[in-house]
Amino acid sequence: MFATINGINLAYTDQGRGTPVVLLHAFPQSRAMWAPQVNALSKTHRVIAPDFRGFGDSDAPEGAYTLDRFADDVAELLDHLAIPRAVLVGLSMGGYTLFAFYRKHTARVNGLVLADTRAQADTVEGRAGRFAMAQTAKSKGAGAIADLMLPKLLSPVAQQTKPDLVRQVRSAIERTTVSGIVGALMAMAERPDSVPLLAQIACPVLVLTGELDGPTPPADGNFMAERIPGARLEIIPQAGHLSNLEQPEAFNAAVRTFLDAIR
Ligand code: MLT
Repeated sequence: MFATINGINLAYTDQGRGTPVVLLHAFPQSRAMWAPQVNALSKTHRVIAPDFRGFGDSDAPEGAYTLDRFADDVAELLDHLAIPRAVLVGLSMGGYTLFAFYRKHTARVNGLVLADTRAQADTVEGRAGRFAMAQTAKSKGAGAIADLMLPKLLSPVAQQTKPDLVRQVRSAIERTTVSGIVGALMAMAERPDSVPLLAQIACPVLVLTGELDGPTPPADGNFMAERIPGARLEIIPQAGHLSNLEQPEAFNAAVRTFLDAIR
């Protein structure tokens, strides 16, 4: 499905009935990465999964992308769907977007699941790495970004034993436009430090992290859970960065327990 949001076509999935749950995807993926969660959670909830601008089936305009813009796109999609409040689940870049969403649209948040993400801004080296990756995207295309990102997104064991998953994650990257990749890299490089926000988060929060997550290891999850009042931390065993895809049953069970407690 598509909605015209802020002058662009935003693609989204809207499945199931009940309390709304919004799923925000990682970089450089799309809402397709949430298939196991959409299938499971839509049995009891209304599950909304957008493609961020620049990704999946959404338009990918040239120019400046920011995580605030991503958050506003989500808020306007919820307006379009007449959904006042929701539980939001964000993985990695989706999690960075949740901090922006919480800052700007606090009253619309019933609960947050911060999955395989971190509150800190990029380091100087991290930012330099984004600029280098943006150059690679421009000169070599999305295939080169897939080569760079796959070892970060999936654990070594998944890379060796789950060829279908590797193909799925790679093809989602390869179909991403260069403007989307570059736009999101710049948006992530410029994101503010969300550490000061953590103590102010006043809704129920679940922090999930794959045990084998390289880019945002369990220490990052622990850091957030220790500072968000009442937050719970769950480590997903045998899962890398895309923990929802590597261990969907464990991921879904954790989210379901969290959703049941909020109701
Ligand atoms: C993601 O999975 O969204 C990215 O790894 C986030 C990042 O590059 O910081």
